[in-house]
Amino acid sequence: MADEKALLSVLRREARSVPPLWLMRQAGRYLPEYRDVRATTKSFLDFCYSPRKAADVTLQPIRRFHFDAAILFSDILVVPDAMGQRVSFESGAGPRLEPLETPEQAQRLGEFKIEHLSPVLETIDLVKTALPSDVAFIGFCGAPFTVVSYMIAGQGTPDQAPARLFAYRYPDAFAQLIDRVVEASIDYLARQIEAGVEVVQIFDSWAGVLPANEFQRWSAEPVRRIVEGVKARHPQTPVIAFIRGADAHLPKLTQTIGADAYGIDTALDPAWAVAQTEPNVPLQGNLDPLVLVAGGEALDREVDSILAAFKGRPHIFNLGHGILQQTPIENVERLVARVRRGT
Ligand code: CP3
Repeated sequence: MADEKALLSVLRREARSVPPLWLMRQAGRYLPEYRDVRATTKSFLDFCYSPRKAADVTLQPIRRFHFDAAILFSDILVVPDAMGQRVSFESGAGPRLEPLETPEQAQRLGEFKIEHLSPVLETIDLVKTALPSDVAFIGFCGAPFTVVSYMIAGQGTPDQAPARLFAYRYPDAFAQLIDRVVEASIDYLARQIEAGVEVVQIFDSWAGVLPANEFQRWSAEPVRRIVEGVKARHPQTPVIAFIRGADAHLPKLTQTIGADAYGIDTALDPAWAVAQTEPNVPLQGNLDPLVLVAGGEALDREVDSILAAFKGRPHIFNLGHGILQQTPIENVERLVARVRRGT
């Protein structure tokens, strides 16, 4: 279909000479207009639950850069918040939750209440009517391992040691927590799709810290179940799995978890990823967020090398992880112009 959105056509396995482009965390603090709107609400989660503001910041990077996709402005930690494990964000210090240190504490967690997230669904409704017709709309959730890691530690950690220790000590209780997040995520993504997103992405930002067996059990398998559950309700909606640190697991993931496309992180060699996966499987990535901070010729060189590595392949141009706050706007403009040079 000639007028199909570029991102959707690639997710249907079409290779395009100019890949669709969006950036993980594209709505955020590197944008002065984001900082302006953000300054009007103290608490970050209250901000996420303010549909007009969240819709506005979802659209900001589209207005400025005309990316091929908008990603819903929210956070992966709204899911524990909707289970009654209240989440807060302290400025400069990241997320804070009441940590789950024992199986008993984990069992006391409440039911997932989708009504708690109705402001997010309202945001989707507002964005969908304002989105340019060639821009796709992406919803998302965190993968169970990543979300549960924050639920157990109560904050960010360098290696998710608290969650990994919990999993070794109390495998049944850990499995129950993972299951609860699987079920909540299926419901949440299905509701996002019903509200109007066209694609969903699952972020497993912390899977890379796990040894191989644990990776299969706590990252790959729960993500596979979410994909299956979402597809059972919405078979036509493409799913992107971004499993950061998947490394050598990538080929197997592409054969087992049933997503429509796979995000690859900065550390992975694109030529290897291309060679090790079926030629029609769409891949997303994987520019180093730091080279986008540096800009200049280093940026041009890395962009060209990624374009060359994925040439002929269904490819979505993106970063290998979220955009950094110190990224200069002009470097993003340079990136967009470089990727779209052929147009
Ligand atoms: O991509 C987008 O533009 C959509 C919005 C989005 C946010 N977080 C907004 C946000 C998305 C998709 C996320 C995902 C997310 N959140 C992940 C997975 C992706 C990744 O980057 O690994 C994780 C692990 C989180 C949890 C989280 N949220 C942390 C650790 C932090 C604090 C760190 C930081 O960057 O400050 C957040 C806060 C957060 N989420 C901000 C934004 C724009 C910054 C807070 C602010 O503006 O005050």
